Amino acid sequence: MTELIKVQDLKKQYENDEIVTKVLHGVSFSIKQGEFVAIMGPSGSGKSTLMHILGFLDQLTTGKYFFKNNDTSNLSDDQMAEYRNFEIGFVFQAFNLLPRTSVFDNVKLPLTYAKNPGDINDKVKKAIEAVDLTHRTNNLSNQLSGGEKQRVAIARALVNDPALIFADEPTGNLDSKTGGQVMRILQNLNKQGKTIILVTHEKYTAEHARRIIKIRDGLIESDFKVTNHIEINDGDELLK
Ligand SMILES: Nc1ncnc2c1ncn2[C@@H]1O[C@H](COP(=O)(O)OP(=O)(O)OP(=O)(O)O)[C@@H](O)[C@H]1O
Ligand SMILES: [Mg+2]
Repeated sequence: MTELIKVQDLKKQYENDEIVTKVLHGVSFSIKQGEFVAIMGPSGSGKSTLMHILGFLDQLTTGKYFFKNNDTSNLSDDQMAEYRNFEIGFVFQAFNLLPRTSVFDNVKLPLTYAKNPGDINDKVKKAIEAVDLTHRTNNLSNQLSGGEKQRVAIARALVNDPALIFADEPTGNLDSKTGGQVMRILQNLNKQGKTIILVTHEKYTAEHARRIIKIRDGLIESDFKVTNHIEINDGDELLK
């Protein structure tokens, strides 16, 4: 499998006024195309920070980040925006849906950046169908339950057909049944060949992935394959 992401001794610190917050202290790993990886660690350990850097939403302080074998320090802002908009889908920790805006329009949003979006109507409908929300297409986002909002966020991440999806705590605010539905959707996407990078503080959620990278206090604590990962299938009892 081809290497999609490689970071070497990546460090990140935030500087606000006089205050320096060191978050990532030197992390190194690589992720191949088609993997399903969970980045796991306690609150404040730097998971979202790492996801934002890998997704070109924030910049590293020192170290190297290669995306598809390109050294990202050599990329122009336009090239980074291109990756961010067309190769990557994001499911954010806070859903970040537009309020008082329909499910359809929320899911459509990433396509509005595309030069040649193709059949927008068709793509939006398919993405909504993939998360089983066709019956809610015209509802406003603030009329949805937490689990439904999370599925809209996933549909929005999918609509561009990106090869890589980042999901930050996608089950964080959900009950176990709804969380199971979300994990099933992510596992199905992975089976279709998409690379999934899931951020979570929960061991149970992380065990739905094939590999876990544990971070603690800004360092990698362990990086291992999940033996006996938890598999959720379409007909499972959990989903009924
Ligand atoms: N913009 C910022 N400026 C200063 N410090 C920040 C900023 N963003 C995050 N931090 C700090 O960096 C650390 C890591 O934050 P991050 O959001 O990456 O943690 P996390 O692992 O995602 O936690 P959680 O599980 O609670 O979401 C925290 O101590 C946080 O306060
Ligand atoms: Mg976070």
